[in-house]
Amino acid sequence: MARKRDRARIAVFVSGGGTNLQALIDAQKTGQIPNGRIVLVVSNKKDAYALTRAKEAGIPALTITKKQCGSAEAFEEALKEAVKEYMVDLIVLAGFLAILSENFTKDYPERIINIHPSLIPSFCGEGYYGLRVHEEALARGVKVTGATVHYVNEIPDGGEIIIQKAVNINNKDTAESLQRKVMEQAEWKILPEAVQKVAKIITKSRQG
Ligand code: GAR
Repeated sequence: MARKRDRARIAVFVSGGGTNLQALIDAQKTGQIPNGRIVLVVSNKKDAYALTRAKEAGIPALTITKKQCGSAEAFEEALKEAVKEYMVDLIVLAGFLAILSENFTKDYPERIINIHPSLIPSFCGEGYYGLRVHEEALARGVKVTGATVHYVNEIPDGGEIIIQKAVNINNKDTAESLQRKVMEQAEWKILPEAVQKVAKIITKSRQG
């Protein structure tokens, strides 16, 4: 078990069901993220089920919405304040469906990662989120899709790729069945793996 100072402090940003958050909580419990610790969950939707998951796991959770803040700028400032207050080293976007501007991302180079439900550079970028990604993959008739964890920069889904995992599509798949399959076979596996990988890099860089 890593000592406290050998662990990166992680904030998970969410908007919905939070199954990826749950995968991280479970991975933490079973010791798969020895170099990280989830210290905060932030939702931009007040009714996100992910907030219940955080509560059940005993993790502090905040709701910060654009509406509440009044503008996109104020929203990002509020997020930055939360990150500062909880002394966060790594931000994980796990189904966080607000796009962060350069004003936010430039402050955390290689300290924000995102999970996307396709093999980037396919079916990604602005407008591609959730079920829509799988609908587009089926409409295009691809036979293989998957998930990607990547660093976040100012280009939506444009940062360096950390881990990808492929998933086969069969002709019976619907967008819903494909979404579930990509989560089970790819997302819930590669997200904890990528978080541990980056948390280890962060703790190593601290030890100089
Ligand atoms: C996941 O499939 C995630 O990859 C996707 O939203 C879903 C959130 O589910 N993210 C995006 O599409 C980002 N562009 P969850 O709330 O159950 O983790």
